[in-house]
Amino acid sequence: MKFSRIASTGGYLPEKILTNADLERMVDTTDAWIRERTGIEKRHVALDGQTTVDLAEQAARQALADGGFSPGDIDLIVFATTTPDRVFPSCACLLQQRLDIHGCAAFDIQAVCTGFVYALSVADKFIRTGAARRALVIGAETLSRIVDWSDRSTCVLFGDGAGAVVLEASDEAGILSSHLHADGQYESLLTVPAGVSDHPERLRAGDAFIEMKGNEVFKMAVNTLGRIVDETLDASGLDKSAIDWLVPHQANTRIIAATARKLDLPMERVVVTVDRHGNTSAASIPLALDVAVRDGRIRRGDMLLMEAFGGGFTWGSVLVRF
Ligand code: ACO
Repeated sequence: MKFSRIASTGGYLPEKILTNADLERMVDTTDAWIRERTGIEKRHVALDGQTTVDLAEQAARQALADGGFSPGDIDLIVFATTTPDRVFPSCACLLQQRLDIHGCAAFDIQAVCTGFVYALSVADKFIRTGAARRALVIGAETLSRIVDWSDRSTCVLFGDGAGAVVLEASDEAGILSSHLHADGQYESLLTVPAGVSDHPERLRAGDAFIEMKGNEVFKMAVNTLGRIVDETLDASGLDKSAIDWLVPHQANTRIIAATARKLDLPMERVVVTVDRHGNTSAASIPLALDVAVRDGRIRRGDMLLMEAFGGGFTWGSVLVRF
């Protein structure tokens, strides 16, 4: 078996919802501003004590059940997150223990909003080389823990959630190609400028939050995602008319619409969840995929283009025959 294919999907959003009206009571903003600039109407936020792995476990169990798999069928766990439960063990290991899986490779990937694209690409390579047969690939975040809830320029953007897929070996190509990039020279435009080793005093003081030069990130995202569309189509020799669905990272409807225009895709062929989920970073693509598979829009055989851009900067795409 030379290829990998997505066998099943799962998703989970925490119960607590924060609407734009709620944010109007917290910072100097308006529902109209948030909708117009971002397309976001509400987002889900984890409860106190509810962790990234708690959300991931729900999404993973749904993906396993959806495909008729038991945890013992999994021989690789790749977990994309920017907001891990602990410094260590990794979220992948914590999830492995929850699912009562023992012995297989399990590790985290940190590529911020591009995390799921990275994770899917890495898992695909494990399967193609024969190192794994069935991988659980997760994107899960509790971004609410690194949002400064008094900063109106960032707190309106983010949400919490988890998405999962089971990727398995196949004779037919599911993942057709993947394209990963990063350029660390832009690290200061989108960052949490403190951590375990750098400014640990800020982390200890509870002063380690997302900082973003939104306008510059916006321009870079639109241009870079335009280029990744070209790169992906060129590599596969496909015309843009072959794409049935764009399943983009959900940061902002204006960024998503720009990529759709580049593909000549009407918005009816774009999976948009940012209005209800906000930006859930590594969770946004698998959550969007799960929503569109579950509501019957995405069907077996459809051609999907997933793309993402995020802190690092990192960016990438995956072309998928679902
Ligand atoms: N409510 C009301 N006004 C606001 C708010 C708010 N929530 N936030 C900012 N403003 C004000 C600003 O203060 C500014 O006021 P001024 O003109 O008086 O100075 C004005 O609105 C315009 O601010 P801009 O930042 O220029 O607004 P912009 O149109 O660029 O929209 C946004 C901001 C939505 C953040 C946009 O830049 C964006 O989406 N950027 C990209 C975000 C992204 O894609 N991030 C990547 C992924 S995230 C990750 O990797 C973790």
